[in-house]
Amino acid sequence: MNPNPEKNKSAGSGKTILASAVGIILLVSLPALPFLFPLSGTAGPDGIAAPGRFHILTLHFPIALVLMVPLFELLGSIRAFQQLRPSVLPLLFFAALSSVAASVLGFLLALGDGFSGRLIEQHMWGGIFTSILLLITLPLKLLCERTSKKTVFHACYFLSLAGSILSLTSTSHHGASLVHGPTYLTERLPPALQRIFQETEQLPDGISLESNAYESLIKPIFQSRCYSCHSAEKIKGDFRMDDVELLMAGGESGMEGIVPGNLEDSEVHYRIIQKPTSKGLMPPSTELPLAPDQITLIAWWIQNGAETDRSIGDLLSAPDSEKVISIIKNMLSSAPAN
Ligand code: HEC
Repeated sequence: MNPNPEKNKSAGSGKTILASAVGIILLVSLPALPFLFPLSGTAGPDGIAAPGRFHILTLHFPIALVLMVPLFELLGSIRAFQQLRPSVLPLLFFAALSSVAASVLGFLLALGDGFSGRLIEQHMWGGIFTSILLLITLPLKLLCERTSKKTVFHACYFLSLAGSILSLTSTSHHGASLVHGPTYLTERLPPALQRIFQETEQLPDGISLESNAYESLIKPIFQSRCYSCHSAEKIKGDFRMDDVELLMAGGESGMEGIVPGNLEDSEVHYRIIQKPTSKGLMPPSTELPLAPDQITLIAWWIQNGAETDRSIGDLLSAPDSEKVISIIKNMLSSAPAN
């Protein structure tokens, strides 16, 4: 018990000071992490990666808990559900706690597994920002509970809570794009709907024999199936495919990505024809595999010089193009008419 009631009144109890100190330390140290340990893109030791993997488990807690807060606030304002009101503060506490935990573990995952790139950075800062907002929302809620009248704290609390939810939603979306690729939500929708979401780039929409073969046939495959891990957004295996020079050069193995006219020595081809059980298969076995037609197209393009400035018609005159001709005919007939 605190012998000095004055001190209690000014919210200066030992517990409050301790909680505020922890909160302030977290508020400062979370955003400092990426500056202290920048994401280099090279994988770190198992000691960092192993706990980092638990990010995937932990991240679901703040999502569920944060969304329960407005639900409980809303229901709690109805007489029949009044008993839910006292749960809001503990909910917020565990939401903030799990958000901080998910952020730190996510950071360890990025360091341990060597993630880097724009999408990772966006996701990382989104997670940190969400945690900071929740760490601010929590004491605001406490202040609201201490004053019975509607005060400026209430307005700040609701703004801060709304901000946390928005930030959480955007962070989750970036996270899902990292895991499943940016087209995951829309790629199985009917083409007409996909067009609304502007996810049409992987469709052979409007290609003709005059179209550039690389731009209209090959790049869309790389774009939809490889860029999620091999472009400026996220760079795995130190290999970027969104720049033709880097695509040719290859990644950390030192093998050339593409050797024009030479399938055997092209690491890209070697990786896409691996068995599903092989560790080297690309895309990795956790992802949807390339369709046989897509592999045939890529092989045909490499075989014929992997050029980026030739038209489809031009390349189709090459020998052994019968199979490709039928694939392109199929694509042309299944492409939605404009
Ligand atoms: C989900 C992430 C992911 C996707 C999608 C993905 N890769 Fe990879 N890729 C990796 C990782 C991780 C490595 C590094 C480990 C390794 O070499 O197996 C890698 C390495 C590679 C390498 C070796 C680079 C080198 O020289 O070391 C090639 C080539 C490659 N990928 C090609 C592709 C192609 C082609 C696609 C699309 C058809 C693709 N990848 C899709 C994750 C991915």
